[in-house]
Formats: sequence, C-alpha cells, structure tokens
Amino acid sequence: MPSRRFTPPGPLKGRLRVPGDKSISHRALMFAGLAVGTSRITGLLEGEDVLATAAAMRAFGARIERRNDGVWEVDGAGAGSLLQPRGALEMGNSGTSTRLLMGLVASYDISVVFTGDASLSRRPMDRVIEPLRMMGASFEASPGGTLPLMLRGAAPAVPISYTLPVASAQVKSAVLLAGLNTPGITSVIEPVATRDHTERMLAGFGAPIETDDAAGVRIISLRGEADLSPCDVTVPGDPSSAAFFIVAALIVPGSDLVIENVGLNPTRAGLIAVLREMGGRIEEIDAREVGGEPVADLRVSHSALTGIEIDPALAPSMIDEFPVLFVAAAMAEGTTRTSGLEELRVKESDRLATMAQALKLAGAKVTEREDGLTIIGTGGEPLSGTPAGASVETRLDHRIAMAMAIAGLASKDGVAIDDTAPIATSFPTFADLLERAAAST
Ligand code: S3P
Repeated sequence: MPSRRFTPPGPLKGRLRVPGDKSISHRALMFAGLAVGTSRITGLLEGEDVLATAAAMRAFGARIERRNDGVWEVDGAGAGSLLQPRGALEMGNSGTSTRLLMGLVASYDISVVFTGDASLSRRPMDRVIEPLRMMGASFEASPGGTLPLMLRGAAPAVPISYTLPVASAQVKSAVLLAGLNTPGITSVIEPVATRDHTERMLAGFGAPIETDDAAGVRIISLRGEADLSPCDVTVPGDPSSAAFFIVAALIVPGSDLVIENVGLNPTRAGLIAVLREMGGRIEEIDAREVGGEPVADLRVSHSALTGIEIDPALAPSMIDEFPVLFVAAAMAEGTTRTSGLEELRVKESDRLATMAQALKLAGAKVTEREDGLTIIGTGGEPLSGTPAGASVETRLDHRIAMAMAIAGLASKDGVAIDDTAPIATSFPTFADLLERAAAST
C-alpha cells in the first residue's frame, strides 16, 4: 500500500495532456475485438481497468497488440464468433469492463466466470443481470447479486425493449451489446440521458443503430446479427481525468494551466458548467472533433469560487466528477449543496461517505445526507490538512485518492493518502503530470 502526502506546490503552469478516455477506450477494444479485420486505436488509456478489458477480449479470441509507436492493433474475433474462455475473467477494479462484457457475451452459447477485487466484489450486478435474464441468459451470482458470478449465455437470445430503471450508461451499454448477437431489434429507453459513447462508436463500426429523441426520452434501437467493420479510433483525453487538473488550477493561487485535447461530449461536460457557475475561469480553445467526439484545449486559471446549489439533473453528465467537485466546494466562499446522488454510494466506494470522512479529516466542514453532501467552504483559505500520523482512507477508489491529493495542494500541511495504488486503474501518470505542472513556473 504506497501511502503518500500531497503538499502545496507552487502555481500550476504550462501545458499538459491527460491520458485517453476510459469509457471510450473500453468500447474501442470491445468493438474492434468483434469486427472482422484490423482496427487501430490511437491514444488508448493504458490503465489497469482498460487492460482488463483487453485481456478479456483476447480470451474471447481477438488478437490485440500494442505497437512500438503506442498504437494498439486489434484483429477481431468476428461478431457471432466469440470463443469460450479457458479460465475465469479477472476484472480487477473495473465495473465498466464487467458490466459491458456481461452484456457482450450474454447472447453467445458460452459460460463465463467474472471475478474482481474487494471493491468490485461489493458492487451491484443485479442492474445488468435483470435485463440480460429477460434476454435469456442465466446467472449464478454471489449473495446480493455480486461477483464472483457465472454467466451462461443464450443463443439465440431474445430481443427486448428495456426502460432503464437507473440512469446508467453501463446498463444501457450491456443491453445494447447483448443485442449485437441477437436476432431482431433490441432497444433501450433512457428517461435521463447518460454518456452516449456506445451509440456513437457502434455507428462508427457500421452497426445498424438509431437514436430517437422524443419528448425528453431517448430511444436507442439496434438491429442485431449485423457484422461490425474494422475502424480506426482516436481516443480523446478523458474529461474525468482532466477534472483533477481543472480543479487544481482553480484552487492553487497563481495557477494558469492549459489542458490539451479534453473530450467535451455534452453527456460528460457537467463539471465544467458547474465550476463556471461557481466562478471558475475555464476557457475553451480550438474546439474541434476527434474520433467523432467534441474536443478542446482548456485554459484554466486560479479563481475565487462561490458555493452553489447543484441541480441534480446535471448528475449523470458529471457522475464521476463529484469527489473532486466536493474539493472545489470546500475551497469556495459559502455553501455548496448537492442532492440526488444516491448512485455515488455504489461506485468504487461509497463516494458520499468516503469523501465526507476524508474532507472532514482534512479540515473541511461537511454534512453527509442520504442523497448528497452539504459543504461550507473556506472562501479560499487553505484547509488545515490531515493531522500528523493520520491519513485519508481511499477504500480502493482511484477517484478518492486523486481528489484528496488535489485537496492536499490547497492545504497548509498537506493531505496524506493511505494508498495511491488505485490511481493506476484510470490515470497511471497522475503524480508525474502534477509534478511537471508544479515545476513549470
Ligand atoms: C461508465 C458509466 C458510469 C461511470 C463509469 C463509466 C461507462 O457508470 O460512473 O465510470 O463507461 O459507461 P454508471 O453507468 O454506473 O453510471
């Protein structure tokens, strides 16, 4: 367990690039792994979660190699031709790998055992088991619908029309991926829009998929048993990783930082809107499109932030950014109130409880409610930091570790993190980039 204290640096300056988007990287490997022919992926996130997806796709018969120039080359197994893996699939910390792959294999005549680390083994899988059972797959899960679990796929599976009971892109994607090898039309009805990378990228790989937006409800329909054509994918920088540097530059005095190539898909960009409303100076430069996704460079400078009431309707478009938003709130003038965030309790950790405890230990004023946190900010005064000998518990959650590292930059005595190892699941270069930004004054 590598523990570490993050202390106040000088201002963050210069330019940096965060690694590729995690959600897009998973999907690129999965769809390229199904296509017949060679796809090339540029800018793939080489974090542990995405590598778990790569290992699983190899076990299903795809050839996946990293070239010396950093481009990943994938020869797909062919839609309809996934192989029975020889052993259990070890998913590590990755909920996205697990839930999307459960969908992907649910319409094949194979049995797959999924296992994961202690954090993943606590997370609910019923949300994907339920619709996949309706399609014909069967499951033997651990108590509470958790990993380890065994899935027995159904071929042919039955197409369904499924209304999402929770706003979850993972559940939406699992059903659509099961639909790929299912005869007929599989559709998902989405009362609240969630990230749409699956829909965008499946269309790029030639799948017959359509989205209909009527009266605020999205209906996504996919015709199954179609071949996927190989596609070259360029993965934009991950806005969820950029979030840590955006907040860092806003709260560390004197900072003026450019973060290049940040994905700004509207279903992911809620944090930027919220931080601007709080008074954050975030400028978009050179807005463009990369790999079918909107992208820009962001110039972020130190700003006086003001607490606000955050509209719960924004939650799906910033669902992974709340830990670091709570840090920004702890440095703002006045009160920030969040609500409608029950989903945060079933992420890599219970992010409401873990962040409330972590921020309090670092000297912030936080009240935890069932569906959100209320935070009274310091108005820019540094937090006291964690007391000598005490450290923040990250509970196998990469985003808690990084959010609290950023809190350390805006504290008097620094914030000690009990375990930085989980950061490698999504952002292996986090600490190096932070040091570089602090050094380039
Ligand atoms: C993801 C969807 C979100 C998000 C996760 C990645 C995806 O999860 O929290 O980090 O790639 O589809 P939910 O679908 O559970 O909200």
